[in-house]
Amino acid sequence: MTVTGMDGIDLSATEFWGLPLAERAAAFALLRAQPRPRFFAEPETPFAEQGPGYYALVRYADVVEASRHPDVFCSGKGATSIPDLPAEFNEYFGSMINIDDPRHARLRRIVSRAFSPRLIAKFEADVRRVAASIVDELLATGPCDFVANVAARLPLKIICDMMGIPADQYDMVLANTNIILSGADPEFLTEDLDEAVVRLLGAGQALAELVTDLAAARAQAPAEDLVSALATANIDGEQLTSAELASFFILLVVAGNETTRTALSHALMLLTEYPDQRALLLADIESRLEGAVEEIVRYASPVVFMRRTLTCDYTMNGQDYHEGDKTVLYYYSANRDEAVFADPERFDITRSPNPHVGYGGPGRHYCLGAHLARRELTVMLRELLTRVPGITAGEPDRLLSSFINGIKRLPCEF
Ligand code: HEM
Repeated sequence: MTVTGMDGIDLSATEFWGLPLAERAAAFALLRAQPRPRFFAEPETPFAEQGPGYYALVRYADVVEASRHPDVFCSGKGATSIPDLPAEFNEYFGSMINIDDPRHARLRRIVSRAFSPRLIAKFEADVRRVAASIVDELLATGPCDFVANVAARLPLKIICDMMGIPADQYDMVLANTNIILSGADPEFLTEDLDEAVVRLLGAGQALAELVTDLAAARAQAPAEDLVSALATANIDGEQLTSAELASFFILLVVAGNETTRTALSHALMLLTEYPDQRALLLADIESRLEGAVEEIVRYASPVVFMRRTLTCDYTMNGQDYHEGDKTVLYYYSANRDEAVFADPERFDITRSPNPHVGYGGPGRHYCLGAHLARRELTVMLRELLTRVPGITAGEPDRLLSSFINGIKRLPCEF
């Protein structure tokens, strides 16, 4: 598939997401230049009947306004998938990202207390130690797959440590989160409908069992970890049920792993493609790294979209929407909107201001882990670039997904 003008663009076609990144970006530029958001038929999925279709919100102004009005643009009909997911998926995948107030506010209140700055601060020291040991091993190993040896390891270890998951379970956690976020990639999923459902639910169930067992152990003997805090968090008499704990845990390990790993892999690709930006960063890493991390997240947009559904009729930037309409907020495109970002396809670590929506738009669902992600990216890149300043990326093997801008494998040289 190649894109030749507006008619060639189909955001619901699996092949669209396999296009070279530059072609994909050019297609979104064409969509942004249209006077109104385009309406697409829904992608076919093995899990559900084909739904009514969706408006693709590709401009920054639309993505931000929809995010700011969660009472109109709700998440409760599903945020992480364009098709409505069957009810049985909610048991494992129905956590706070897919629900609305008042349940969302209640969950976020409880987990925010557990996700306290004190707990995060405790793990900052871990982030530094883990990043240093990953680079030690990289230097000992030599040129290798950057995703498996570097990018996937830090977020996995940090989120598992925070939760209190023992090291012998890391591989199991990684394998199951890979299945859950595998998109349309044949390496992880199958075209067979029943088998696909069984695998996805199986991944959810395996992670749910892990946390239920852990929570039971921590209720007897609490430790300094998130599962203990969540299992015992009691705010004004409110507590998570065990089903809520399980689905929140699944959201955290999935959201905490795949996104940060994707950002790190894109970081190496970008610093390879733009040697002038690498040189600029290395010339004064302390003052430029924070800006570089923001620009990496803008440019890579690890989470490509989230969905919202209209709760009432509404007019936004000249377009009428009706109750029940689906809208898809393309963060990837909003982050390239020329109305907000000058020369958006230029990777510029000194870009300022950089009001990207890589962690979501302003509103109730803004990424709970944004602070942690920024810390992980900053610490890992500082460690890597000061100790292996000449490291470069080869050709990426990209994940075939409309949702995560993922990299499965990335050869590195130094
Ligand atoms: C570069 C890394 C990351 C990116 C790009 C990212 C992106 C996002 C985005 C776009 C949303 C918005 C969802 C919406 O508006 O519907 C979100 C929500 C969320 N993220 Fe992240 N994320 C990252 C890292 C993390 C980490 C490390 C964690 C946890 C440890 C995490 C946990 C969450 C949770 C729990 C939510 C749901 C919040 C809610 O619905 O109230 N994320 N993230």
